[in-house]
Amino acid sequence: MKHLTDIKNLNKIQIEALLIKAQSLNKAESEINRKILKHKTIVNLFFENSTRTLVSFEIAAKKLGADVINVNLEHSSTKKGESLKDTLLTLQAMGVDAFVVRHPENNIFATIKKWIDPKVALINAGDGNNQHPTQALLDIYTIFQHKNNIKDLKISIIGDIKHSRVANSLIDILNILGNHNIHLYGPKQLLPIERKNSTISQSMDQAIKDSDVIVMLRIQKERMQAQNIPDLENYNTNFGLNSKTLTQAATDCIILHPGPINRGVEIQSELADNHPSVILEQVTNGVLIRQAVLATLL
Ligand code: CP
Repeated sequence: MKHLTDIKNLNKIQIEALLIKAQSLNKAESEINRKILKHKTIVNLFFENSTRTLVSFEIAAKKLGADVINVNLEHSSTKKGESLKDTLLTLQAMGVDAFVVRHPENNIFATIKKWIDPKVALINAGDGNNQHPTQALLDIYTIFQHKNNIKDLKISIIGDIKHSRVANSLIDILNILGNHNIHLYGPKQLLPIERKNSTISQSMDQAIKDSDVIVMLRIQKERMQAQNIPDLENYNTNFGLNSKTLTQAATDCIILHPGPINRGVEIQSELADNHPSVILEQVTNGVLIRQAVLATLL
Protein backbone atom coordinates (compact mmCIF):
# COMPACT_ATOMS: atom_id res chain seq x y z
CA MET A 1 0.00 0.00 0.00
CA LYS A 2 1.63 3.27 -1.14
CA HIS A 3 -1.34 5.66 -1.23
CA LEU A 4 -4.62 6.10 0.65
CA THR A 5 -6.97 8.05 -1.58
CA ASP A 6 -10.20 6.02 -1.40
CA ILE A 7 -11.31 3.61 1.33
CA LYS A 8 -12.72 1.33 -1.41
CA ASN A 9 -9.15 0.59 -2.48
CA LEU A 10 -8.60 -1.31 0.77
CA ASN A 11 -9.81 -4.80 1.54
CA LYS A 12 -10.95 -6.17 4.90
CA ILE A 13 -7.49 -7.52 5.74
CA GLN A 14 -5.78 -4.18 5.01
CA ILE A 15 -8.36 -2.30 7.11
CA GLU A 16 -7.95 -4.71 10.02
CA ALA A 17 -4.16 -4.41 9.76
CA LEU A 18 -4.41 -0.59 10.04
CA LEU A 19 -6.67 -0.88 13.11
CA ILE A 20 -4.23 -3.31 14.74
CA LYS A 21 -1.32 -1.01 13.85
CA ALA A 22 -3.11 1.90 15.55
CA GLN A 23 -3.61 -0.22 18.65
CA SER A 24 0.03 -1.31 18.77
CA LEU A 25 1.31 2.27 18.27
CA ASN A 26 -0.89 3.33 21.18
CA LYS A 27 0.71 0.71 23.41
CA ALA A 28 4.33 1.20 22.29
CA GLU A 29 6.88 3.42 24.05
CA SER A 30 6.74 6.95 22.63
CA GLU A 31 10.56 6.94 22.24
CA ILE A 32 10.33 3.86 19.99
CA ASN A 33 7.49 5.40 17.96
CA ARG A 34 9.53 8.57 17.43
CA LYS A 35 12.11 6.60 15.41
CA ILE A 36 9.59 5.15 12.92
CA LEU A 37 9.53 8.10 10.50
CA LYS A 38 12.82 9.76 11.40
CA HIS A 39 14.20 11.72 8.40
CA LYS A 40 10.87 11.53 6.55
CA THR A 41 9.22 14.75 5.40
CA ILE A 42 5.44 15.07 5.29
CA VAL A 43 3.69 18.03 3.69
CA ASN A 44 0.11 18.94 4.64
CA LEU A 45 -1.63 20.81 1.85
CA PHE A 46 -5.19 21.81 2.79
CA PHE A 47 -7.26 23.71 0.23
CA GLU A 48 -10.30 23.58 2.54
CA ASN A 49 -10.59 24.49 6.22
CA SER A 50 -9.84 21.89 8.86
CA THR A 51 -9.16 21.64 12.57
CA ARG A 52 -9.29 17.92 13.42
CA THR A 53 -7.76 16.37 10.29
CA LEU A 54 -4.97 18.90 9.79
CA VAL A 55 -3.82 19.06 13.41
CA SER A 56 -4.14 15.31 14.00
CA PHE A 57 -2.04 14.55 10.90
CA GLU A 58 0.58 16.97 12.22
CA ILE A 59 0.56 15.44 15.71
CA ALA A 60 0.58 11.91 14.26
CA ALA A 61 3.60 12.66 12.04
CA LYS A 62 5.50 14.31 14.93
CA LYS A 63 4.76 11.39 17.26
CA LEU A 64 6.48 9.18 14.65
CA GLY A 65 9.49 11.49 14.41
CA ALA A 66 8.79 12.92 10.96
CA ASP A 67 9.41 16.48 9.85
CA VAL A 68 6.06 18.12 9.04
CA ILE A 69 5.34 21.16 6.92
CA ASN A 70 1.88 22.74 6.96
CA VAL A 71 1.77 24.83 3.81
CA ASN A 72 0.02 28.12 4.53
CA LEU A 73 -1.93 28.42 1.30
CA GLU A 74 -3.09 31.97 2.11
CA HIS A 75 0.55 33.07 1.88
CA SER A 76 1.66 30.66 -0.84
CA SER A 77 2.26 31.29 -4.53
CA THR A 78 -1.12 29.67 -5.32
CA LYS A 79 -2.39 33.20 -4.54
CA LYS A 80 -0.24 34.43 -7.47
CA GLY A 81 -1.93 31.93 -9.74
CA GLU A 82 0.42 28.94 -9.40
CA SER A 83 -1.43 25.78 -10.40
CA LEU A 84 -1.99 22.74 -8.18
CA LYS A 85 0.35 20.72 -10.41
CA ASP A 86 3.16 23.26 -10.19
CA THR A 87 2.66 23.62 -6.45
CA LEU A 88 2.98 19.85 -5.93
CA LEU A 89 5.96 19.47 -8.28
CA THR A 90 7.73 22.42 -6.63
CA LEU A 91 7.27 20.97 -3.14
CA GLN A 92 8.22 17.49 -4.36
CA ALA A 93 11.50 18.89 -5.75
CA MET A 94 12.43 19.94 -2.20
CA GLY A 95 12.33 16.30 -1.06
CA VAL A 96 8.92 15.18 0.17
CA ASP A 97 8.03 11.63 1.29
CA ALA A 98 4.28 12.11 1.64
CA PHE A 99 1.60 14.60 0.69
CA VAL A 100 -1.54 14.87 2.80
CA VAL A 101 -4.06 16.78 0.70
CA ARG A 102 -7.55 18.17 1.28
CA HIS A 103 -9.22 19.59 -1.81
CA PRO A 104 -12.75 20.69 -2.77
CA GLU A 105 -12.76 18.76 -6.08
CA ASN A 106 -14.10 15.19 -6.14
CA ASN A 107 -11.63 12.58 -7.42
CA ILE A 108 -8.75 15.08 -7.66
CA PHE A 109 -6.39 12.30 -6.54
CA ALA A 110 -6.72 10.41 -9.83
CA THR A 111 -5.17 13.47 -11.48
CA ILE A 112 -2.59 14.17 -8.75
CA LYS A 113 -1.32 10.58 -8.98
CA LYS A 114 -0.42 11.17 -12.63
CA TRP A 115 1.71 14.20 -11.72
CA ILE A 116 3.73 13.14 -8.71
CA ASP A 117 6.56 10.67 -8.30
CA PRO A 118 5.00 7.26 -7.49
CA LYS A 119 7.50 6.92 -4.63
CA VAL A 120 5.81 9.85 -2.83
CA ALA A 121 2.90 8.66 -0.67
CA LEU A 122 -0.42 10.40 -1.23
CA ILE A 123 -3.10 10.62 1.44
CA ASN A 124 -6.61 11.95 0.93
CA ALA A 125 -7.64 14.20 3.82
CA GLY A 126 -11.01 14.82 2.14
CA ASP A 127 -11.97 15.51 -1.49
CA GLY A 128 -15.25 17.33 -2.12
CA ASN A 129 -18.18 15.17 -1.07
CA ASN A 130 -16.38 12.06 -2.29
CA GLN A 131 -14.05 10.44 0.26
CA HIS A 132 -12.48 10.95 3.69
CA PRO A 133 -10.75 7.60 4.20
CA THR A 134 -8.94 8.34 7.48
CA GLN A 135 -12.24 9.54 8.98
CA ALA A 136 -13.82 6.21 8.01
CA LEU A 137 -10.96 4.35 9.69
CA LEU A 138 -11.17 6.38 12.90
CA ASP A 139 -14.96 5.97 12.99
CA ILE A 140 -14.63 2.19 12.70
CA TYR A 141 -11.81 2.11 15.26
CA THR A 142 -14.06 4.03 17.68
CA ILE A 143 -17.04 1.72 17.02
CA PHE A 144 -14.82 -1.35 17.66
CA GLN A 145 -13.83 0.11 21.04
CA HIS A 146 -17.46 -0.17 22.11
CA LYS A 147 -19.00 -2.92 19.98
CA ASN A 148 -18.29 -6.44 18.74
CA ASN A 149 -19.73 -8.05 15.66
CA ILE A 150 -19.76 -5.10 13.33
CA LYS A 151 -21.87 -7.04 10.80
CA ASP A 152 -24.89 -7.19 13.11
CA LEU A 153 -25.01 -3.57 14.24
CA LYS A 154 -27.76 -1.20 13.16
CA ILE A 155 -25.95 1.95 12.03
CA SER A 156 -28.01 5.15 11.57
CA ILE A 157 -26.53 8.04 9.61
CA ILE A 158 -28.61 11.20 9.94
CA GLY A 159 -28.35 14.66 8.41
CA ASP A 160 -26.84 16.07 5.23
CA ILE A 161 -25.73 12.81 3.66
CA LYS A 162 -25.69 14.08 0.09
CA HIS A 163 -22.77 16.45 0.67
CA SER A 164 -20.92 14.25 3.15
CA ARG A 165 -17.63 12.56 2.25
CA VAL A 166 -17.74 11.22 5.83
CA ALA A 167 -21.00 9.36 5.14
CA ASN A 168 -19.73 8.14 1.77
CA SER A 169 -16.52 6.68 3.19
CA LEU A 170 -18.27 5.26 6.26
CA ILE A 171 -20.87 3.43 4.16
CA ASP A 172 -18.04 2.07 1.99
CA ILE A 173 -15.98 0.81 4.92
CA LEU A 174 -19.05 -0.75 6.57
CA ASN A 175 -19.84 -2.56 3.32
CA ILE A 176 -16.26 -3.85 3.07
CA LEU A 177 -16.50 -5.15 6.65
CA GLY A 178 -19.79 -6.89 5.83
CA ASN A 179 -22.32 -4.54 7.47
CA HIS A 180 -25.33 -3.82 5.27
CA ASN A 181 -27.60 -2.68 8.10
CA ILE A 182 -27.16 1.03 7.38
CA HIS A 183 -30.11 3.41 7.74
CA LEU A 184 -30.03 6.92 6.30
CA TYR A 185 -32.31 9.78 7.24
CA GLY A 186 -32.38 13.47 6.43
CA PRO A 187 -34.29 16.09 4.43
CA LYS A 188 -35.18 14.72 0.96
CA GLN A 189 -32.93 17.27 -0.78
CA LEU A 190 -29.98 16.18 1.40
CA LEU A 191 -30.23 12.44 0.75
CA PRO A 192 -27.74 10.82 -1.63
CA ILE A 193 -28.66 9.83 -5.18
CA GLU A 194 -26.66 6.59 -4.93
CA ARG A 195 -27.90 4.28 -2.14
CA LYS A 196 -24.87 1.91 -1.76
CA ASN A 197 -26.37 -0.97 0.30
CA SER A 198 -28.26 1.26 2.69
CA THR A 199 -31.93 1.89 3.53
CA ILE A 200 -33.67 5.26 3.56
CA SER A 201 -35.76 5.69 6.73
CA GLN A 202 -39.11 7.47 6.57
CA SER A 203 -38.95 9.15 9.98
CA MET A 204 -36.50 10.01 12.74
CA ASP A 205 -38.07 7.35 14.98
CA GLN A 206 -37.68 4.70 12.28
CA ALA A 207 -34.05 5.69 11.71
CA ILE A 208 -33.17 5.62 15.41
CA LYS A 209 -35.27 2.64 16.56
CA ASP A 210 -32.99 -0.02 18.12
CA SER A 211 -29.96 1.66 16.61
CA ASP A 212 -26.56 0.59 17.98
CA VAL A 213 -24.55 3.40 16.40
CA ILE A 214 -25.94 6.84 15.52
CA VAL A 215 -23.82 9.07 13.31
CA MET A 216 -25.01 12.68 13.22
CA LEU A 217 -23.86 14.98 10.41
CA ARG A 218 -23.86 18.74 10.08
CA ILE A 219 -25.45 20.63 7.19
CA GLN A 220 -22.59 21.38 4.77
CA LYS A 221 -23.63 24.94 3.93
CA GLU A 222 -20.36 25.47 2.06
CA ARG A 223 -21.45 22.92 -0.57
CA MET A 224 -24.97 24.36 -1.06
CA GLN A 225 -26.61 27.28 -2.74
CA ALA A 226 -28.07 29.70 -0.16
CA GLN A 227 -31.68 29.01 -1.20
CA ASN A 228 -31.26 25.26 -0.50
CA ILE A 229 -30.06 25.68 3.10
CA PRO A 230 -32.87 24.44 5.36
CA ASP A 231 -34.38 26.60 8.10
CA LEU A 232 -32.33 25.57 11.13
CA GLU A 233 -35.12 25.60 13.71
CA ASN A 234 -37.31 23.47 11.49
CA TYR A 235 -34.34 21.21 10.75
CA ASN A 236 -33.68 20.73 14.47
CA THR A 237 -37.33 19.79 15.09
CA ASN A 238 -37.39 17.16 12.34
CA PHE A 239 -33.83 15.86 12.10
CA GLY A 240 -32.08 16.86 15.32
CA LEU A 241 -31.04 14.30 17.93
CA ASN A 242 -32.19 14.99 21.48
CA SER A 243 -32.67 12.98 24.67
CA LYS A 244 -36.30 12.24 23.71
CA THR A 245 -35.59 10.83 20.23
CA LEU A 246 -32.62 8.93 21.67
CA THR A 247 -34.95 6.81 23.87
CA GLN A 248 -35.88 4.85 20.68
CA ALA A 249 -32.28 3.64 20.25
CA ALA A 250 -30.70 0.50 21.75
CA THR A 251 -29.94 1.04 25.44
CA ASP A 252 -26.19 0.73 24.82
CA CYS A 253 -26.09 2.82 21.65
CA ILE A 254 -23.23 5.24 20.95
CA ILE A 255 -23.36 8.62 19.18
CA LEU A 256 -20.71 9.68 16.69
CA HIS A 257 -20.21 12.99 14.90
CA PRO A 258 -17.21 13.80 12.69
CA GLY A 259 -17.27 17.45 13.77
CA PRO A 260 -17.49 20.35 13.64
CA ILE A 261 -20.75 20.24 15.61
CA ASN A 262 -23.58 22.72 15.22
CA ARG A 263 -24.93 22.57 18.76
CA GLY A 264 -28.70 22.82 18.91
CA VAL A 265 -29.08 22.11 15.18
CA GLU A 266 -28.26 18.45 14.44
CA ILE A 267 -27.56 17.54 18.07
CA GLN A 268 -28.65 18.77 21.49
CA SER A 269 -25.65 20.31 23.22
CA GLU A 270 -25.85 18.14 26.38
CA LEU A 271 -26.03 14.97 24.27
CA ALA A 272 -22.88 15.93 22.40
CA ASP A 273 -20.95 16.37 25.65
CA ASN A 274 -22.10 13.35 27.63
CA HIS A 275 -22.52 9.58 27.50
CA PRO A 276 -23.33 7.94 25.08
CA SER A 277 -21.52 10.48 22.88
CA VAL A 278 -18.05 9.28 21.75
CA ILE A 279 -17.29 12.40 19.72
CA LEU A 280 -14.09 13.33 21.54
CA GLU A 281 -12.95 9.68 21.51
CA GLN A 282 -13.20 9.93 17.70
CA VAL A 283 -10.88 12.94 17.81
CA THR A 284 -8.36 11.12 20.03
CA ASN A 285 -8.51 8.04 17.80
CA GLY A 286 -7.91 10.25 14.75
CA VAL A 287 -4.32 10.78 15.87
CA LEU A 288 -3.73 7.04 16.28
CA ILE A 289 -5.31 6.13 12.96
CA ARG A 290 -3.27 8.78 11.14
CA GLN A 291 -0.13 7.47 12.83
CA ALA A 292 -1.03 3.97 11.60
CA VAL A 293 -1.64 5.21 8.05
CA LEU A 294 1.61 7.21 7.89
CA ALA A 295 3.66 4.37 9.39
CA THR A 296 2.13 1.87 6.96
CA LEU A 297 2.51 3.95 3.80
CA LEU A 298 6.01 5.20 4.59
N1 CP B 1 -13.92 15.56 10.64
C1 CP B 1 -13.23 16.50 9.97
O1 CP B 1 -12.80 16.29 8.83
O2 CP B 1 -13.02 17.66 10.66
P1 CP B 1 -12.13 18.87 10.13
O3 CP B 1 -12.84 19.46 8.96
O4 CP B 1 -12.03 19.81 11.31
O5 CP B 1 -10.80 18.31 9.73
